[in-house]
Amino acid sequence: MKTMNKGFASALALGVALGGPVRAEDVEVLHWWTSGGEAAALNVLKDDLGGKGTGWIDMPVAGGGGEAAMTALRARVTAGDPPTAVQMLGFDILDWAEEDALADLTATATAEGWDQIVPTALQAFSTYEGKWIAAPVNVHSTNWVWISKAALDAAGGKVPETWDDLIAVMDAMKANGITPLAHGGQPWQDATVFEGVVLSLGTDFYKAALVDLDPATLGGEKMAEAFNRLLKLRTYVDDNFSGRDWNLASAMVINGEAGMQMMGDWAKGEFVKAGKVPGTDFVCIRFPGTQGAVTFNSDQFAMFAQTDPAAQDAQVQMAKAIMDPVFQSAFNVVKGSVPARTDVPDTAFDDCGKKGMKDLAEANVSGGLFGSMAHGHAAPASVKNAVYDVVTAAFNGEYADGASAATALAEAVAAAQ
Ligand code: GAL
Repeated sequence: MKTMNKGFASALALGVALGGPVRAEDVEVLHWWTSGGEAAALNVLKDDLGGKGTGWIDMPVAGGGGEAAMTALRARVTAGDPPTAVQMLGFDILDWAEEDALADLTATATAEGWDQIVPTALQAFSTYEGKWIAAPVNVHSTNWVWISKAALDAAGGKVPETWDDLIAVMDAMKANGITPLAHGGQPWQDATVFEGVVLSLGTDFYKAALVDLDPATLGGEKMAEAFNRLLKLRTYVDDNFSGRDWNLASAMVINGEAGMQMMGDWAKGEFVKAGKVPGTDFVCIRFPGTQGAVTFNSDQFAMFAQTDPAAQDAQVQMAKAIMDPVFQSAFNVVKGSVPARTDVPDTAFDDCGKKGMKDLAEANVSGGLFGSMAHGHAAPASVKNAVYDVVTAAFNGEYADGASAATALAEAVAAAQ
């Protein structure tokens, strides 16, 4: 390193040594879309931009849920060298806006009428103090279960609608000799399953606990029940779950090793990439007991403020490309998510995608739409991380019972605020 020239060293740090220097008319994009399905979706965006003359410098940071990507981002910004465009979730966007680090996209948003077609629940994270600071590329939701059709048929064929149904199906799968629940023991995955359990105990409960952060609800009896349910689910997981990546858990369901996965609809991207068809090879259902409600997260691209007009223009081109309705359909069909615009037809989507769009629209009207805690849309990162800690500790049997876990959760969330 001592003899390496400074420019080359920083190009290496950027990961672009082989791709040449970043030109002002390129976008350097930090993201965590590294699984097969995610990369396929990312290519739709890359190709779209390439076709319009905007070059792409890739900065992937592996790690589902984006925690590692956010750490890498902080390091880049601290070094005075932020990437031009960054995949971000919910409260993280608002945090960067508060630090005054993001480019103002209002002129483009106004010219293109984004406020007319982006749902209000998303605008809460794409705007800050009246300015547009991010372009939403999708809406994911987390309260899904992805079930192998063959495993379900072998377990009696009844789609589980309640908690008791779910337990009965998983018991039957266990008796059939497969792992009922494919899971990856990483904090964000534990938290994704946990928020499904919380929602299954009632939308008012989810809101009071994970959105309003009400101490009595967080530490109360119903929360003890939620943790007991989580511990019950733990009994259906295989011995090697610890640290497993989410897409490897999806693969277990795809290849018949496991019965189901509780995961956001990015999992569908893996099924689709593997050539699997909803209704034939797999079944998508809402987490039993959460029908009618949706916990959402939206991937948005925020642009870090640049002074070079060519770089600013590349950012505008990227934002416009992301918001294009034709692109939103093509991208989300591959990603497993649904469009972030309300005016995109569902014609190109498979049955799970159509259901996702319908569920989202209905939950939005009925008051059943809530931000996902596990994916940064219910509370800022400090609180999210506190929830991760307790949920993961609980999943790994560190509390005597559900009641002790609930007490720990209330304490951890209070300390994080
Ligand atoms: C989510 C993100 C999705 C998906 C997932 C797994 O937080 O919104 O786009 O990629 O993480 O990496």
